[in-house]
Amino acid sequence: MQISTFTTHPFDDQRPGTSGLRKKVKVFQSQSYLENFVQSIFDTQTDLAGGSLVLGGDGRYYNREAIQIILAMAAANGLARVIVGQGGLLSTPAVSCLIRKYQTNGGIILSASHNPGGPDEDFGIKFNTPNGGPAPESVTEAIYHRTREINQYRMLDADTIDLDHTGTIKLGDTQVEIIDPVADYAELMGELFDFEQIRQLFSAGEFRMRFDAMHAITGPYAKHILEDILGAESGTVINGEPKEDFGGGHPDPNLVHAHEIVTLTTGPDAVDFAAASDGDGDRNMILGRDFFVTPSDSLAVMVATARLIKGYSDGIAGVARSMPTSQAADRVAAALGLTCYETPTGWKYFGNLLDAGRITLCGEESFGSGSNHIREKDGLWAVLFWLNLLAVRRAPVADIIRQHWREYGRNYYTRYDYEGLDTEAAAGVIRYLQQQLPQLQGADLGSYQVEYADDFEYTDPIDSSKSTHQGIRIGFTEGSRIVFRLSGTGTSGATLRVYLEAYEADPDQQERATAEVMAPLVELAGELAQIEARTGRAEPSVIT
Ligand code: G1P
Ligand code: ZN
Repeated sequence: MQISTFTTHPFDDQRPGTSGLRKKVKVFQSQSYLENFVQSIFDTQTDLAGGSLVLGGDGRYYNREAIQIILAMAAANGLARVIVGQGGLLSTPAVSCLIRKYQTNGGIILSASHNPGGPDEDFGIKFNTPNGGPAPESVTEAIYHRTREINQYRMLDADTIDLDHTGTIKLGDTQVEIIDPVADYAELMGELFDFEQIRQLFSAGEFRMRFDAMHAITGPYAKHILEDILGAESGTVINGEPKEDFGGGHPDPNLVHAHEIVTLTTGPDAVDFAAASDGDGDRNMILGRDFFVTPSDSLAVMVATARLIKGYSDGIAGVARSMPTSQAADRVAAALGLTCYETPTGWKYFGNLLDAGRITLCGEESFGSGSNHIREKDGLWAVLFWLNLLAVRRAPVADIIRQHWREYGRNYYTRYDYEGLDTEAAAGVIRYLQQQLPQLQGADLGSYQVEYADDFEYTDPIDSSKSTHQGIRIGFTEGSRIVFRLSGTGTSGATLRVYLEAYEADPDQQERATAEVMAPLVELAGELAQIEARTGRAEPSVIT
């Protein structure tokens, strides 16, 4: 087989965002677009030549074509071994698991996470480093710089590979191993959680759950683990068949997009426990009967109860949360004498802390939680953590959360997203807030007094790398907080995110409606940022 070298020209928009390079499918399909980015990975990650790679995606439209292109390029760039999920499928957590288990020189994940899929929707590509985690900024910047100067890429002239059968194929000198996408991941989960105890919970017959895979990647994983291994009744997993367009849905597990599963937790026939995951399987939503667990509370409960769970029974080293995530976990960490790190948004910032053993658990308000078992957030892992906890406690989800609030106080939490804004207008909101920071210090704003107001920056305690302009934080003396930041994962226009948090220590005040508690902060946020005047939006597009 022959290697061809193709001449190409740089694109100017291949800088990876919060989580890899995301664009419309049509952009990726345009001449040399994917090839340029992939060649830039191979050019900068020089250990890959002669080394090994994990490759897979969430099954969205263009996944199969992209896998074929990347395989032909991997062979032309001298990869010794590529491990591919059967059908080109691998969840993001499974890629992380495989990179670590087989000690490969990295992995490539094809996904745009929770963004819709289909010919007119989104696609994405992300490189993960040998620790199994998303590439740090130094690596993504090196790849980006390479995309600015690239002038050729290499490809093996090869026939299309059959991705649908497991086995080993030779592609030029490269060994391509097509593996069962679920097995290694399921084995890891069995090491962390007490599967026998969860089996007993299901077999007792009084406990019912549903898991919504949203026609995305977690279908096969959830069916195998929940139904085959743990004995949950057949039909526990809904929307379990991965589809290229996710059944036309928006595979984002929140109260808005995953409403189907939410309805199964209400009414006389409500299930006891329900959960959902996103396009690539790294997000999770946790629900009890008539009860929604905020991701921030979920993380706090995990920190508080980790000792009850097999894989964490020796205790945890520390915890980290992204800056906009509520401070509920901080309170538990303080009570347990653990350090709680506050990092910028994006899983990549947890990597060094996990590698250095400073933290065991970490999470984000955006429906993400995980631990040191891999270097990505992990949707099914969170579901299994909760299942294991429910099997130990044998109490309703709502009772567990309420007891937690009584002990540590409740951090009411909500997020307002203003999507599809004019990019300049959105940047203007942030600039306007930045200008106000000096006079906001110590200011009285109605019944609130500002304790601190800053543009969040973070210095990594391990490698001292510094990240600036990570969002505007305004903290009030009684524990409330407003955070403003722009999304780094969108593919068109800009999204302004406003994160609101209010702390309530009094158990008699912990059952109020979140919207009611937040109303004064919502108003204040609108005034401080002049949201309507600057963006023309009176209401957010999504409230979570
Ligand atoms: C969003 C979330 C962030 C998460 C990322 C990838 O990024 O807010 O917490 O890590 O997706 O799943 P954003 O669009 O806000 O930059
Ligand atoms: Zn995701």
